[in-house]
Amino acid sequence: MSPVGVTVPFVPSPPEVIRQALKLAGLRSGELLLEPGCGDGRTLVIAAKEFGARAVGIEIRKDLLETAMRNVRLAGVEDKVLLIHGSFYDVRFPPADVVFLYLLTSVNERLRPKFLSELKPSTRIVSHDFAITGWKPVEVVDVEEGGRSHKIYYYIVEESLRKQ
Ligand SMILES: C[S@@+](CC[C@H](N)C(=O)[O-])C[C@H]1O[C@@H](n2cnc3c(N)ncnc32)[C@H](O)[C@@H]1O
Repeated sequence: MSPVGVTVPFVPSPPEVIRQALKLAGLRSGELLLEPGCGDGRTLVIAAKEFGARAVGIEIRKDLLETAMRNVRLAGVEDKVLLIHGSFYDVRFPPADVVFLYLLTSVNERLRPKFLSELKPSTRIVSHDFAITGWKPVEVVDVEEGGRSHKIYYYIVEESLRKQ
């Protein structure tokens, strides 16, 4: 049985899609990446190891959180990554520079008020395959990977609101 609060199944993003999304968002060394629903921690590891960023992941499933902890340790980036066990609906978001999402349109919609009240106006959000309805993306990019096309929606909070 799924733990209470799990609203999205674990389907990992291919590493190349993550790289392209973080490049699109212009993630820089020292910036803070947030990933609500971080799964096995692959995005956090790529952000820390390849982009030199700090990263915070929120994950509700304990087994996945433990896998993420192991992956972060194996990659040697424990000093850059913070993992939080809990629901992204309840955990207060840190002041992230970039947010990476791979959730569902309905979940993005439910999180929208939190994006507005807890993120900075300048926060860049990249969402794999699912749009944030009501917000106008700055850019939408297609990435061919694993035999299918993945969409990356790129938003900047203040700009995407102005354009809606
Ligand atoms: C589609 S997977 C994406 C995993 C990762 N972001 C990636 O792109 O590889 C969604 C993740 O969100 C987690 N999740 C679902 N509901 C959640 C909630 N309410 N709070 C925190 N994590 C949740 C799932 O357990 C799963 O790991």
